[in-house]
Amino acid sequence: MILDKTVNVVANEALGNGNFLLTFAEETIAGEMLPGQFFMVGMPGSGILLRRPFSVCGLPGTFDDSPGDSLQVLYKVMGQGTQVLSGLGTGAALTVLGPLGNGFTVPGPEVTPVFVAGGIGSAPYPALTRACAAAGCPDPVMFYGARSAADLPLLDWFDDHCGELHTATEDGSAGEQGLVTGPLLRWLEGRDPTTYELIACGPDPMLHAIRNIAVPAGLRCQLSLEAHMACGFGVCIGCVVPTHGEDGAVDYTRICVDGPVLPAEKLAW
Ligand SMILES: Cc1cc2nc3c(=O)[nH]c(=O)nc-3n(C[C@H](O)[C@H](O)[C@H](O)COP(=O)(O)OP(=O)(O)OC[C@H]3O[C@@H](n4cnc5c(N)ncnc54)[C@H](O)[C@@H]3O)c2cc1C
Ligand code: FES
Repeated sequence: MILDKTVNVVANEALGNGNFLLTFAEETIAGEMLPGQFFMVGMPGSGILLRRPFSVCGLPGTFDDSPGDSLQVLYKVMGQGTQVLSGLGTGAALTVLGPLGNGFTVPGPEVTPVFVAGGIGSAPYPALTRACAAAGCPDPVMFYGARSAADLPLLDWFDDHCGELHTATEDGSAGEQGLVTGPLLRWLEGRDPTTYELIACGPDPMLHAIRNIAVPAGLRCQLSLEAHMACGFGVCIGCVVPTHGEDGAVDYTRICVDGPVLPAEKLAW
């Protein structure tokens, strides 16, 4: 069930370079939300009319020090909406519509989850890491890329909670210099594809690159997509992507209801 609630900011922690971890508490949404699903977040009284979509980063228990019903959103300041959000202090009101979208499929207990994150695309992985552990999956292998070290805001958390962490930055300020697909391709070389599943979230060019690695090789791969979203629940048709229909013909899929997570082979990019 989709709920529309008014909540108060519990914390809005600056993590550097415009990255923030926002915490609020909402018991019913917290009890129903799955990793990979998202909220539409509104800022009442700010003059910003449209709510903005954000993935759930933390569910109750994801971050050790977070109180009972708390939910977290990891966000980066991009424009007016996120600028306003970044200025909100403890107690400020937010409207939250959720849970929205489908969320990730947690791999089976024999399958290693291989996370690929581009910058703020790391947002859904803390909650997913916990769900994979609860399902008995092997520890995730994470490939975390960004423009620079300042855009790897949860690096220490992933270092503590993933089996392997590979980093790449375009300016070489952390990990290997270059794109995250470099270390990923080396890791994939010669491995049995039945033992792992790729899960990727990040900017569009990164998702295209991952799709182009996964689909020709027949690798299992889930992609978490982004689009401009006016409603978040299927009515404005503003978030469609071209996909392969049942008969192979190109169709259109609303990311907000049938995504944001889609199998890579479904995309007609
Ligand atoms: C399902 C989903 C989950 C998301 N999860 C997160 C998250 O966890 N953390 C996070 O920081 N961001 C997330 N985003 C992106 C986030 O919604 C946008 O960054 C935010 O709406 C920008 O709002 P703004 O008013 O600050 O910027 P705007 O002024 O609206 O835009 C600023 C710039 O960002 C671009 N932009 C805006 N929205 C998007 C979008 N949806 N996709 C790509 N580019 C966009 C604009 O083209 C413009 O260049 C998610 C988006 C979707 C669709
Ligand atoms: S955002 Fe309105 S239909 Fe998807």
